[in-house]
Amino acid sequence: MNKSASPKDSGDNPVTHFDFLKKAKRFSPLDSSLGVLAFFFVASLFIACFFYLDNKGFRSRATTILDFDFSSSSTSSVTSSSVTSSPSSSSSSSSSSSSSASGPVQFLSPEGDGCDVFDGNWVWDETYPLYNSANCSFLDQGFRCSENGRPDTFYTKWRWQPKDCNLPRFDAGKMLEKLRNKRLVFVGDSIGRNQWESLLCMLSSAIPNKAKVYEVNGSPITKHTGFLAFKFEDFNCTIEYYRSPYLVVQGRPPSGAPDGVRMTLRVDHMDWISHKWRNADVLVLNAGHWWNYEKTIKMGCYFQIGEEVKMNMTTEEAFRKSIETVVDWIDNGVNTNKTYVLFRTYAPVHFRGGDWNTGGGCHLETLPDLGFLPAVSDNHFRTVVDVLSERTNKSEFLNLDLLNVTQMSIRRRDGHASIYYLGPDGTAPMQRQDCSHWCLPGVPDSWNELLYALLLKREDFWEQRQNTTNVSQVPL
Ligand SMILES: *[C@@H]1O[C@H](CO)[C@@H](O)[C@H](O)[C@H]1NC(C)=O
Ligand SMILES: *[C@@H]1O[C@H](CO)[C@@H](O)[C@H](O)[C@H]1NC(C)=O
Ligand SMILES: *[C@@H]1O[C@H](CO)[C@@H](O)[C@H](O)[C@H]1NC(C)=O
Ligand SMILES: *[C@@H]1O[C@H](CO)[C@@H](O)[C@H](O)[C@H]1NC(C)=O
Ligand SMILES: *[C@@H]1O[C@H](CO)[C@@H](O)[C@H](O)[C@H]1NC(C)=O
Ligand SMILES: *[C@@H]1O[C@H](CO)[C@@H](O)[C@H](O)[C@H]1NC(C)=O
Ligand SMILES: *[C@@H]1O[C@H](CO)[C@@H](O)[C@H](O)[C@H]1NC(C)=O
Ligand SMILES: *[C@@H]1O[C@H](CO)[C@@H](O)[C@H](O)[C@H]1NC(C)=O
Repeated sequence: MNKSASPKDSGDNPVTHFDFLKKAKRFSPLDSSLGVLAFFFVASLFIACFFYLDNKGFRSRATTILDFDFSSSSTSSVTSSSVTSSPSSSSSSSSSSSSSASGPVQFLSPEGDGCDVFDGNWVWDETYPLYNSANCSFLDQGFRCSENGRPDTFYTKWRWQPKDCNLPRFDAGKMLEKLRNKRLVFVGDSIGRNQWESLLCMLSSAIPNKAKVYEVNGSPITKHTGFLAFKFEDFNCTIEYYRSPYLVVQGRPPSGAPDGVRMTLRVDHMDWISHKWRNADVLVLNAGHWWNYEKTIKMGCYFQIGEEVKMNMTTEEAFRKSIETVVDWIDNGVNTNKTYVLFRTYAPVHFRGGDWNTGGGCHLETLPDLGFLPAVSDNHFRTVVDVLSERTNKSEFLNLDLLNVTQMSIRRRDGHASIYYLGPDGTAPMQRQDCSHWCLPGVPDSWNELLYALLLKREDFWEQRQNTTNVSQVPL
């Protein structure tokens, strides 16, 4: 694919269009016709590329691709970009990008009830990102890719567009109003933290006085704190994060455990700190990234059931068992009349040419994968879905939704921090790139927009609990 044909990030800065106009006027007729020819050649290559990759959903996306191609490189850009950057643009851009599909059905309207918001594609949207990392003090340095030197900003400009309906435009004030006097809790690994920080930035953009948003214990945002709760004072609402990468108890082995067992994961027992989450109003769980051989058995951390260390249990078996434990806990330990539980599915990694510790990378990926993709084959994803569907059979009403982000995020190899992940020694070296965590603003913002949409769709959940079974398309 010809990367030079990709959109220049010019929407932010109308001056460049005028510059371009001036330059265009100075072109001799020959130059300018060559330029026009070259533009159409490059543009058609670019479009052909997408057409080749994907003819299924081509029509809806082609509109968008054309939009941004024109706005970036032709002289008609002045008008088109002023349209897309006007305040009213959110409605116009979302209607234009979806009108070609099956009409502008709104997810929040009754007609949107059956819409699978996780099935769709990424569309270019000049009105994005929703916030600027430099304006948000709630971000780890590691996620601040632009500030850490990442030169391209295309990755901040993709909006998630479901195939069959439109999402509501994210409205921080509205979400905070929904969460008034409530607790929204994220629990999981550092990707959960990635999403939590994204939501802090998205919500705090609506709070002019940043002193009204603070950590309840005065703890700073640092990588290693196990628990952080930010209060939005005007709304008496907290957005919390608990680090618990396995969700179950990790600790010392029982006495008499075989040699070589340095730690165990008690896959039948929820993390001790889970009593702090169980009363949340909204609970977003995730797990997966730490359930691998390297982070468990290889380190001498085996799996335990009851008092017995299961020396033969594989990581995948143990992961399945832990998810069963989580589901049992939701069933028996959580008041699902009060707590809306979501499980965010596995966030894909994008190491190419190796793994995270063998020189794999995603550096210089600047465009998403908009073409046809095979169905998710990820084990962690399958395990969660399997366990949940088995259990749903048993207990007819488990008040739980999937935040089914795996497939949509597979398309976003361009969204990772790569070498722009800033650690204690500066940015990551080329052979230790970060292709797991996501730049912010970026992909986790879209997960949170989906969370927002599901919350609004669940409006009934807050008012009349009886009628909440059918709000989500997730068959659980
Ligand atoms: C859920 O909604 C679908 C259509 O949106 C409908 O066919 C189905 O009967 C509903 N199920 C329940 C339990 O209300
Ligand atoms: C998750 O979303 C993908 C993409 O829309 C879809 O193919 C898959 O069936 C969904 N899985 C579940 C369990 O909802
Ligand atoms: C960032 O903050 C500055 C100064 O407060 C403001 O002018 C600008 O619009 C903000 N940018 C975004 C994207 O919020
Ligand atoms: C603030 O929210 C908490 C729950 O998060 C609630 O218990 C408390 O009553 C609320 N305070 C006020 C003043 O409403
Ligand atoms: C582990 O597997 C080996 C070989 O399959 C078997 O001999 C042994 O009894 C197993 N141990 C346990 C505790 O299941
Ligand atoms: C939840 O609500 C249902 C129906 O209103 C009620 O029967 C049940 O006792 C409630 N459960 C709890 C734990 O409050
Ligand atoms: C699941 O439900 C279906 C139909 O409701 C039933 O035929 C099947 O036996 C159930 N499976 C289990 C494991 O309970
Ligand atoms: C549940 O919703 C249906 C239609 O959405 C409505 O007719 C019914 O009255 C509601 N039931 C309760 C108990 O609110």
